[in-house]
Amino acid sequence: MKRAIFLATLAMAVASFVISSSRGQSPARTYTIGMSQCNLGEPWRVQMNADIRAAAAKHPELKVIFKDAQNDTLKQRSQVEEFVSAKVNLLIISPKEAQPLTEPVARAFEAGIPVIVLDRAVLGEKFTCFIGADNKKIGKAAGEWLVKRLGGKGKIVELKGLMTSIPGQDRHTGFREGIAGSGLEVVFEADMKWLEPDARKEMESALARFDHIDAVYAHNDPGAHGAYLAAKAAGRDGIVFVGIDGLPQEGVAYVAQGILDATFRYPTGGEEAIGTAWKIFHGEKVPQKIVLGTRLFEKSNVASGGSPVP
Ligand code: FRU
Repeated sequence: MKRAIFLATLAMAVASFVISSSRGQSPARTYTIGMSQCNLGEPWRVQMNADIRAAAAKHPELKVIFKDAQNDTLKQRSQVEEFVSAKVNLLIISPKEAQPLTEPVARAFEAGIPVIVLDRAVLGEKFTCFIGADNKKIGKAAGEWLVKRLGGKGKIVELKGLMTSIPGQDRHTGFREGIAGSGLEVVFEADMKWLEPDARKEMESALARFDHIDAVYAHNDPGAHGAYLAAKAAGRDGIVFVGIDGLPQEGVAYVAQGILDATFRYPTGGEEAIGTAWKIFHGEKVPQKIVLGTRLFEKSNVASGGSPVP
């Protein structure tokens, strides 16, 4: 009985294929995209996956398989290798660290799989397209904003993102450029690895060592928020907090609530990644680098959606 139903179903499928072929329609091709996310611990990365999912949902031909490396570089390396063995049609990766992920990305690319690198770059040129915002520019804008806000003088704590990742390095050098020649002095700096609990701990050390701190520049909003909580718990008022990411439900809400003084939007690039994948699947040429813009959110403009950073 089961066999009869199976044969009947198969016959119907073949018949509909013959009919559609005879009308000149071939069945739509489907494409599988492997998405390697370094971590889903921060809201920003959850948003990146959501942006990818929403953009892909507009194309029924696309199927995205997500893997979360849980902030573990070795796990992310093997997940990339799994995608290559499974022969996905395209790989999107947001790598935890630059150097250790460079080789697996290059191997995928050399195996003929188009690779889109999102937000955190790898080294070299062996990938199809990098999509991300200009972290040096954002760091510099944060530095210039603080120089203005503090009237050109003050003691600063810098809480850095993972310094083996390119955004951490660029947000640091950009910031130092932005404050160069001013009276702003970084009295304490530490790598909080993009993590709020680490930022809070580092800020506790900074508060214990320095009686006077004018501002905290954290490389992301979770870091700025962790620092704010440490200062609040220690009863230290009057510190200016600046972060980066500017998610509506996170950093922008913190600015609206008066927790942070400023945040700079760091777009996830999820929608652009799917748009680029679509072009690649349809034989269109894509640039090797796509640079996304940023926006500043501060008290005076947060209600009106922030302002562009030129
Ligand atoms: C999330 C995150 C963001 C940051 C980005 C940098 O893991 O730390 O907060 O802007 O990664 O790559």
